[in-house]
Order: sequence, then C-alpha cells, then structure tokens
Amino acid sequence: FTLSLLFITIFITMKYPPYIPSSIPFLGHAIAFGRSPIEFLEKAYEKYGPVVSFTMVGKTFTYLIGSDAATLLFNSKNEDLNAEDVYSKLTTPVFGKGVAYDVPNHIFLEQKKMLKTGLNVAQFKQHVEMIEDETRKYFERWGDSGERNLFEALSELIILTASRCLHGKEIRSLLNEKVAQLYADLDGGFTHAAWLLPGWLPLPSFRRRDRAHKEIKNIFYKVIQKRRASGEREDDMLQTLLDATYKDGCPLSDNEIAGMLIGLLLAGQHTSSTTSAWMGFFLARDKSLQDRCFAEQKAVCGEDLPPVKYEQIKDLNLLDRCLKETLRLRPPIMTMMRMAKTPQVVEGFTIPPGHQVCVSPTVNHRLQDTWVHRLDFNPDRYLNENNSTGEKFAYVPFGAGRHRCIGENFAYIQIKTIWSTLLRLYEFELLNGYFPTVNYTTMIHTPHNPIIRYKHRPWTSNHS
Ligand code: HEM
Repeated sequence: FTLSLLFITIFITMKYPPYIPSSIPFLGHAIAFGRSPIEFLEKAYEKYGPVVSFTMVGKTFTYLIGSDAATLLFNSKNEDLNAEDVYSKLTTPVFGKGVAYDVPNHIFLEQKKMLKTGLNVAQFKQHVEMIEDETRKYFERWGDSGERNLFEALSELIILTASRCLHGKEIRSLLNEKVAQLYADLDGGFTHAAWLLPGWLPLPSFRRRDRAHKEIKNIFYKVIQKRRASGEREDDMLQTLLDATYKDGCPLSDNEIAGMLIGLLLAGQHTSSTTSAWMGFFLARDKSLQDRCFAEQKAVCGEDLPPVKYEQIKDLNLLDRCLKETLRLRPPIMTMMRMAKTPQVVEGFTIPPGHQVCVSPTVNHRLQDTWVHRLDFNPDRYLNENNSTGEKFAYVPFGAGRHRCIGENFAYIQIKTIWSTLLRLYEFELLNGYFPTVNYTTMIHTPHNPIIRYKHRPWTSNHS
C-alpha cells in the first residue's frame, strides 16, 4: 500500500518538460526544424530552458541542452535510454545483422573493444605513411592551380585512405570504380527516408542499398576466407578481427567481421570527410592562419619537409587546434539520440517513456552562456583556460559514455595527415570570398557548394 501511495504521489507531482506547441498536426515542427535546426534549438533554449520537448513527424523529441542537462544522456544505462531503438532501422540494413545496433548493447561493447584493439599506436605509425601516399597520389589530378569541389575530393580520398588503413591491402586493392559505386549505394541507405519510412517499401534507394550490401559482403567474405586459408598473418585490423574472441571464447563469424569492416568504413567516412572539408574552408578563409600552419610544418618536420611521421603529426599543435575548433563549430554528428524506455528525471522534469531524448553537440558547442566569442573560429582559444573545458559535456564531438566514439584517434591522425600533406602542396583561397553555407538537408551537415581555389605552394624540396 505504501509503495502504491508513493507511485501515485510521484505521478501526481511529476512535471513533464516544457512542450513547444504546434498547430500543424503530425508534422509538428518538422519544417521549421528541417530548415534550420540550430536556430530552432537555440530559440527553444532561450524561451524554454535546457529541457524542451516538441513533436516532429508524429514523434516527440526532448532535447537536453547545455552540459548539465546532457549529463542524463551520457551517464544513462542503455536499458533506460536506448540507442538500438532509434538507430537500428538506419544502420542494420547497411552494416548487416549481428553487429552494432542489431545486437544487445553488451555484445556491441565487446565488438567495440575488439575494434579498439586494432586502432593502436603501432598501426597509426603505418597509417600516417599510407594516408600521405594516398593523398599525394589522389591530388595529382588537381594539377598546379584551379577551382575544385573540395568536399567531393575529400570524400573520394577518405574512402581510399580508410579502406587501406582499416580494411587491409587485399580489400584496398579491389577498390575500383565499381566497388566505390557499391559503397555509394550502401551509403545511400543513410537518409532521413530510411529512418522515417517503413523498411519494406520498394524504394529504388532501398533496393540499391540492399544489393550493394550483399555484393560488398561477398567481396569481403572472399578476402576473409583467403586470409584464413593462407595461414599468413598481417599486422592490420582484419587480422585483429580474425584473432579476436568474445568473453566466452567464441571467435567472430565471417558475417560479423564483414559487418564490422563495413561499419568501420562508413562510421568514419562522412564524419571525417565533412570535417576535413570544413577545416579546409576555415583555413582558406584565413591566410595568416594557413601561413602559421605551414610554418608549423617546417618547424616540426624540418625545413625541407620530408614525409611526415606519426610523432610529428602528434606535435603539430596548431593543426590540432584547427581540427578541434572545426569540430566545435561543425561537429558532423549534429544530434545523438536515444529512446526513453523508463521515466527519466532531469532538471526537475520527468521525461516519459517513448520520448526520443537528444543531445546536440552543435548546440552545446556554441552556447552563449558557455563559449566566449562563440561563433568565431579561433583555434587559439584552447591555449587559454578561459574556455568551456570546465563543463564536462560542453564539448562532445565524439560523444561520451557507453556509446562514445572509438574512432577519435584514427580520425585525428587521418585528417591531420591529409591536411599536413595538402598544406605543403597548395595555398587555398575562398572563391570570390564565398564561405559555404550549411546544407541541412543531409543527415550530416555538409558544406553547400564547396568549391575552393588553390595554387601550388612555391617551395622546393627533394621530396615534393
Ligand atoms: C571526425 C570523425 C568522427 C566523429 C566526429 C565521430 C563522432 C561520433 C559520435 C558523436 C559518436 C556517438 C554517437 C552516439 O552517442 O549516439 C560516435 C560513436 C562511434 N563512432 Fe565515431 N566519429 C568519427 C569517426 C569515427 C571513425 C573513424 C570510426 C571508426 C574507425 C568511428 C566509429 C564509431 C563507433 C564504433 C561508435 C560507437 C557507437 C555506439 O557505441 O553506439 N567513428 N562517433
């Protein structure tokens, strides 16, 4: 009786988060949010505070804005705020069954641990050399000067670098135009349509995605089986996965390995290519910053700029801060999302089960109360204590807690090596002063019309 009374009291005193009303049935705020999600959330924060709910396409979203409110999501258990419920529909057709959000979270955590073992310093040392080599070869087609689509180029390059570093030499050697098209079709599965519409609809993009998934898996199976049969051991991620076992001693199946290889490639593909492209535009906009970054190349690597080494990549501190600041202003994952399975109390409000609970790095990274000159691209802000690092979740481009990214170190190595190489090759400039606007229609916010002007950097070296 006492317990029932307690529940009744909790129920009566429960306060739901403030709700933004809408006169449009079902769609709710989808149009305003889709047009400019950041502006929408910033206004919501100003008017309603750090916890706010609204409806879009028949679903209720509750955003936790600012570091304190975000703590709920990052510290939560998967049974309470669940990731599979919101992500699986999108990721399972792409990565396949048996991995990531298709399995209970404790299994995915074991899979993440296996992947992390393969992302170690010894591997990174090899990766730097491979990435520089791929970048130089790729950009030969750009010639001495011109105006080109930077985002497109970096997307193509990053498939090559990621495949070489994360899949191994056999799979990289099979990467021709046909396979690149398969990756593109598979990647076409990451759309708002795939997230919102029923999976059984006979849409051409769904069919292309499913066919590409099958064909890519078949390619990977052959490579996995050949490696197993040869008895040869390589020092790479594929070997790590072939050798890995779950806690109960079971090895990964070929299907799981193939799914994890797809996941590795695609998790890092858009995130790294958009970040690299935005970083290029921030550098192109600021000639003196670009010159400082080039001077840093010489100071750290030597006047005649020999091929860069892992240790030097680590020591390129200004380039590091440029990347950190790019990830602050343009974090590729705009929203992390979970499904509330149990009532969740935050800042005096109770979020009921069924709400999609969200944290937006983009909004946290530019919160007025937290960041000084919040919209300025200022890599040197991290030299001062006077930034928001005191607030635990004010800066979360790679997430936090049990779903935290395992690819951060690799992404830093990859993007810094690419830009280290590009800064040596070219000087960049905005085209007629145009700094790309943000394309909000894609799931990851890409630069709109991302054309950049470049010309060969005038310096001489035996290594160029
Ligand atoms: C600039 C590059 C990247 C950014 C900004 C980024 C960002 C993120 C974020 C925000 C999350 C958390 C998602 C959530 O909590 O819902 C995440 C998770 C993850 N990322 Fe990354 N990522 C990047 C690159 C990579 C790369 C290169 C890999 C693989 C090599 C990778 C693999 C993963 C995995 C496996 C997870 C775990 C998801 C989970 O446990 O639910 N990421 N990433």
